[in-house]
Amino acid sequence: MNLTDKGLFREAALVDGTWIDRADMEVTNPATGTVLGYMPDCTAAETEAAIAAAEHAMVDWKTLSNAERADLLMAWHDLMLAHADDLAQILTAEQGKPLAEARGEILYGASFVRWFAEEARRINGQIIPSPVKDKKIFAMKEPVGVCAIITPWNFPNAMITRKVAPGLAAGCTMVIKPSDFTPYSALALGVLAERAGIPKGVINVLTGRPEEIGAALTSSPIVRKLSFTGSTRIGALLAAQCAPTLKKLSLELGGNAPFIVFDDANLDAAVEGAMASKFRNGGQTCVCANRILVQSGIHDAFVAALSEKVDALQVGPGTDAETTIGPMINAAAIAKISAHMEDALSKGAMRTTRSRNLSAQYADPVVLKGATTEMRLAAEETFGPVAPVFQFETEAEALSIANGTPFGLAAYFYTTDMARAFRFGEALECGLVGLNTGAVSHAEAPFGGVKSSGLGREGAQEGIEEYLETKAFHFGGLG
Ligand code: SIN
Repeated sequence: MNLTDKGLFREAALVDGTWIDRADMEVTNPATGTVLGYMPDCTAAETEAAIAAAEHAMVDWKTLSNAERADLLMAWHDLMLAHADDLAQILTAEQGKPLAEARGEILYGASFVRWFAEEARRINGQIIPSPVKDKKIFAMKEPVGVCAIITPWNFPNAMITRKVAPGLAAGCTMVIKPSDFTPYSALALGVLAERAGIPKGVINVLTGRPEEIGAALTSSPIVRKLSFTGSTRIGALLAAQCAPTLKKLSLELGGNAPFIVFDDANLDAAVEGAMASKFRNGGQTCVCANRILVQSGIHDAFVAALSEKVDALQVGPGTDAETTIGPMINAAAIAKISAHMEDALSKGAMRTTRSRNLSAQYADPVVLKGATTEMRLAAEETFGPVAPVFQFETEAEALSIANGTPFGLAAYFYTTDMARAFRFGEALECGLVGLNTGAVSHAEAPFGGVKSSGLGREGAQEGIEEYLETKAFHFGGLG
């Protein structure tokens, strides 16, 4: 890395304004397989210290005016923008995505901070008409309390700001546990929060292995909310761990997004949307098209056009200017992608894209035609650059395949028939629908899933509600 501000790269955890500097664990650069840096493997005792710091810091933080908290959030946002190039370099070094995409993530991450700084001023309660004359009733909004934030490696910046910014705006304080693959983007956010003047203890960042830290966070009665982005399996486990202390939960979990192209779709737009949805972050997003369903009349033209675009993708280190697909996060990710490919090919799928000679940390972006619901990639998230195309005949068949999984995060469809747009969009079982677009992620729009894809919404007006409780305040004796 060639950082302008070297102070942004911290190999230490942040607890109560103190940087805990221990080189217990290595962090690897996925593009080179070499050690990028070190981090402490925080203990249960350090987790409890972070929780206590957050509890203490909340006393003052929640009594700031909403406008004061908004100003601090905006200062943090402005620093993120001012240091976007350095933050992007850190992100690419630890996560692998191409630099331009990493910079895009920094702007996306900052957009949540701005949005929730603005929303902080609009945390309104209600005055409720009283059923009795001598009484007034108010519904007042209060922060939930200390929040545990557990975030994934695929968006090491934006998944933090999407949770932390609404929490801070609401008056909560945070104990963040970033993925042990990508701690440095979180730590850089901690550095910038300090510089923005956010008081010590309001944001704590714990690095290391998830088990001990997660157990301490979920069992603590002081932690009143858990927000987690990651797999459905781990989300369910964390929810069970939170049950004895009845925490408020936001869970953004796995998806299996269908991307449906009807015969009447605009072909170029559909191919463009499929590229954007499928290959963003090398296919490593929860909202990525996982199953591409194409109606028979447009099928061959779509497969040909998509294959041509996929053949033009450039696979390589995220630091190379021409790279459009970086390395996968680790060997386990590559093994899963290979297993899905082998399974699909053995069951009759056909590859329609060229084969690249890549080193072990990269996955070859491919289009597979002839995909069927019997294949593993129909039931599980591949989380990689594999685009399986399923051919269908009728709208009813497409709907049945689209909804035929336990997941319900994102779904996309392309049609120019407006009656179908409403009929089909309303029948999809998911939290996010992209009609004639492959992008469904904006700070302004609610983000989250149904069924096994999770609980709650992030971003938008809804995002701040997740960090608020309502207190009904009854003023009697006013007759
Ligand atoms: C995710 O993959 O979990 C989030 C993707 C997004 O915010 O668009």
